[in-house]
Amino acid sequence: MAPSLLFLLISLLFIQSSGDLQQHNEEGHISVMISDKGLDFAKDLLIDKAIASIVMSQLPEIEKSVQVPLVGKAKVVLSEITIKDIQINSSTVETGDSGIVVVVSGATANLNMNWRYSCSSWLVPIGISDSGTATVKVKDLEVGLTVNLRNQGGTLKLILLDYGCNVGDISIKLNGGAAWLYQVLVDAFEGNIASSVEDAISKKIREGISTLDNLLQSLPQTISIDQTAVLNVSFVDNPVLSNSSIEVEINGLFIGTNKVLVPRSSLNRLETSTSCGGSPKMIKISIHEDVFNSASSVYFTADSMQWILDELPDQNLLNTAEWRFIVPQLFKQYPNDDMNLNISVSSAPVIQVTNQDIKATINLDIIIDVLESGQVIPVACISVDISASFAAEIIGNNVTGKLKLIKFSTNLKWSKIGKLHMQLIQSLTSSVLKTVIIPYLNSQLKRGIELPILDGFAVSNARIAYAQPWIELCSDVSFSGDSYLMLLPASVS
Ligand SMILES: *[C@@H]1O[C@H](CO)[C@@H](O)[C@H](O)[C@H]1NC(C)=O
Ligand SMILES: *[C@@H]1O[C@H](CO)[C@@H](O)[C@H](O)[C@H]1NC(C)=O
Ligand SMILES: *[C@@H]1O[C@H](CO)[C@@H](O)[C@H](O)[C@H]1NC(C)=O
Ligand SMILES: *[C@@H]1O[C@H](CO)[C@@H](O)[C@H](O)[C@H]1NC(C)=O
Ligand SMILES: *[C@@H]1O[C@H](CO)[C@@H](O)[C@H](O)[C@H]1NC(C)=O
Repeated sequence: MAPSLLFLLISLLFIQSSGDLQQHNEEGHISVMISDKGLDFAKDLLIDKAIASIVMSQLPEIEKSVQVPLVGKAKVVLSEITIKDIQINSSTVETGDSGIVVVVSGATANLNMNWRYSCSSWLVPIGISDSGTATVKVKDLEVGLTVNLRNQGGTLKLILLDYGCNVGDISIKLNGGAAWLYQVLVDAFEGNIASSVEDAISKKIREGISTLDNLLQSLPQTISIDQTAVLNVSFVDNPVLSNSSIEVEINGLFIGTNKVLVPRSSLNRLETSTSCGGSPKMIKISIHEDVFNSASSVYFTADSMQWILDELPDQNLLNTAEWRFIVPQLFKQYPNDDMNLNISVSSAPVIQVTNQDIKATINLDIIIDVLESGQVIPVACISVDISASFAAEIIGNNVTGKLKLIKFSTNLKWSKIGKLHMQLIQSLTSSVLKTVIIPYLNSQLKRGIELPILDGFAVSNARIAYAQPWIELCSDVSFSGDSYLMLLPASVS
């Protein structure tokens, strides 16, 4: 599952210019807030990528004719002007009314170049020429840009509002060559070299922002979960920025692949604070309980909440002989027959996020089937109402957790084998729940649901908090490379 919530991290440089705080949108069920710590991380990552895309790029040749005392008219050409490296002293990212502003200051760059000249004068009628190399040090390089991010039909559009690049100082070191040439380079070419560097960097900014914009536009609006469900990851509304964070909202609801519409309650306003208790984290992902309920509804409607149980730790329980004395009618009608249990969820499980954990209410029908000469004969149905709690946990990039049975109640729905003892039903159900169903669900949950995070990114030091009806997931993010971002240098070169 590649594209994701965390692509936000690369979209960080961009935000709409809106000072006013928005009401939490009715349609946004997942909110992602990137703190200033997260913004710094994204900024550094993007600056690294930008430098990688600029280094080794070649600037256009510069050619000039200059009048040199005693030497005459010289044609000087600077070629293969290559930016060898860039060092950044300091950089900042700030969110404000005008958008997101990134400033790089006090940077230095080293350039290599070749020079050659030819000249002729009445003094030197044969004409002379020479060539060699030089290095250039560019100092006090300042780069700034302001970007803006807008929702465009569910995707994010990145807009470059303003940018600029300024070279403060240049020093040139000539390898070989005549003294007059050095003076010519300093007097006549300094300005050209400076503006050539400024142009090159400005061009990379335009290209880089346009690549990021294309990347954002190309992100899918739904993520396929399995054959039953897709997750709607359309952006809702414009991102909201404060002076210390950016918040984006995503629809976040599961949709059945057969296009079942999921009912949902209206949302209350989400408290927007970057605090996660304790140390600041880069991102905070808030997930509304409706996300889980939409999943519940989709899977329930798709009939994928049914199991046939034909194995139990105590296998004898699945033979009518075991029930000879307890339910004589069963044994009488179907002597020594195997049985199975047809377990189905009878209504979509309801999931509630409290301030401590997640509560699930699950209603099951357990149909007792007798298997007689190739036929499946339902003989009784027990309905079970279960309350369980779920404590979420993050393992790797997966949200996992453990379901714990709190209580359950049973009820005999119908029976073709006479009246069944409630105590018997209760203990059978308890055994099935504790030895089979809960362990089975936990084994499924153990693998977890992968967070939709870009390849190459990983959450680290994640912490989960509950703030009814939201689950808040606070985390730092690490980048191990090998992602969309890797495309950037290549595609802007
Ligand atoms: C880097 O910036 C600091 C202040 O932010 C300044 O004191 C220092 O001289 C700068 N170094 C260079 C190499 O520009
Ligand atoms: C951000 O804004 C809040 C009030 O809106 C203010 O109290 C706080 O000092 C500001 N923080 C910075 C870093 O400007
Ligand atoms: C996905 O979410 C967006 C934003 O809430 C909504 O406009 C769109 O209709 C949703 N798509 C589907 C298929 O439900
Ligand atoms: C299990 O029971 C449901 C009714 O609750 C029924 O629709 C389904 O066909 C049964 N499955 C099998 C394999 O008997
Ligand atoms: C996360 O979930 C995916 C499938 O959803 C699984 O392939 C992967 O092994 C899981 N990772 C961990 C660390 O459990």
